[in-house]
Amino acid sequence: MKRNIVITGGAGFIGSHVVRLFVNKYPEYNIINLDKLTYAGNLANLKDIEDKPNYRFVKMDICDFEAFYQLMQDEKIDGIIHLAAESHVDRSIKDPFTFARTNVMGTLSLLQAAKLYWESLPEKYEGKRFYHISTDEVYGALTMNHPEGIEPPFKTVASSEGHKAYGDDFFYETTKYNPHSPYSAAKASSDHFVRAYHDTYGMPTIVTNCSNNYGPYQFPEKLIPLFINNIRNRKPLPVYGKGENVRDWLYVEDHVRAIDLIFHEGKIAETYNIGGFNEWKNIDLIKVMIKTVDKILGNPEGHSLDLITYVTDRLGHDARYAIDSTKLQKELGWEPSLQFEEGIEKTVRWYLDNQEWMDHITSGEYEKYYEEMYKGR
Ligand code: NAD
Ligand code: DAU
Repeated sequence: MKRNIVITGGAGFIGSHVVRLFVNKYPEYNIINLDKLTYAGNLANLKDIEDKPNYRFVKMDICDFEAFYQLMQDEKIDGIIHLAAESHVDRSIKDPFTFARTNVMGTLSLLQAAKLYWESLPEKYEGKRFYHISTDEVYGALTMNHPEGIEPPFKTVASSEGHKAYGDDFFYETTKYNPHSPYSAAKASSDHFVRAYHDTYGMPTIVTNCSNNYGPYQFPEKLIPLFINNIRNRKPLPVYGKGENVRDWLYVEDHVRAIDLIFHEGKIAETYNIGGFNEWKNIDLIKVMIKTVDKILGNPEGHSLDLITYVTDRLGHDARYAIDSTKLQKELGWEPSLQFEEGIEKTVRWYLDNQEWMDHITSGEYEKYYEEMYKGR
């Protein structure tokens, strides 16, 4: 079946993987990658598919309502997969306005344009989809009432060897929203708007909330690519606070397979949590990265441990995220495919093999950002 789909934020980290999968897997679809190309957008992430006949890039700000409404009509858009956002918590602490503008007003602008266009059609919302990609951070922070770790209630392929849970609570689809950072507050607001467009106007919407992603093409302000690059360059590794915060990590391509499945088979108006039951304390994860990079570079074991530098904590730093994705596994049969230690090794190799991609980003503007972000920490 032919479909006309807009993927917003397709030049970013997760978005580029979504675009690649859809362009390759669905040659009959017309895929439009809509992206403003902020500092985080990089068309080099899509070099391998840019000449495919079913792919087109459109440079656009999601806040530009008129332009997006026109695009909906011109391209007869029947599906929207919305990833465009300001995504970095540290930046949101410094500049919350940009996050409210893009994440809240940008999402609202897309919703309203889609509503006007779809309601003007004879079939109205039939066969249409507005799929909003969100984060587990909207749920707030979990307790760390088992700091040494306990046997977790669930495991998946993604769970690391010796996998532990650091508390006995998890984020469920029914968990009350309780965002703490300007980033998560803005994402929470956008999730509410998406649900409101279903509840008020009957728009066929779906929201998913995913845990921390890792893998190729992630902008090196985020923990994993930043630290791989710093280890390679023998630069300090700025660990916030004591490094005890816990994140739940999922390989990006496993997230993207879930997005594909949910876009096609997810139930309208539902929320699905996406995660692989793979909790890690930051400091333990950092040690795995050091070990992996040192091994691949041929350094003796422990060579780069001296780069660990404890710095001032992130303001309002959420203690622990851990997502329960049982609903998605049971209802749609999704499960992750990549074991965590394998995923980390694959990721480290990718960044080391793609130094040109990294060096291109980490020159110029990025240097100013990096200096500013870590000045005085
Ligand atoms: P990213 O920062 O790598 O990419 C964001 C993309 O959005 C960039 O290409 C950027 O140019 C584009 N963009 C930003 N503002 C825009 C605007 N006003 N108009 C058009 N395009 C704009 O982000 P990511 O890590 O790939 O995250 C993608 C989405 O997934 C976000 O909505 C994020 O909240 C969500 N998410 C991310 C993770 C994660 O671990 N990275 C986990 C769960 C959910
Ligand atoms: O949980 C999903 C979220 O994961 C997404 O919604 C966000 O878009 C994404 O950026 C990510 O947010 P985090 O804040 O968890 O990711 P980040 O890579 O910035 O940090 C991961 C952990 O590492 C966090 O506890 C902060 C810590 N950290 C991070 C950086 C950049 C450090 O200790 N030092 C650092 O230099």
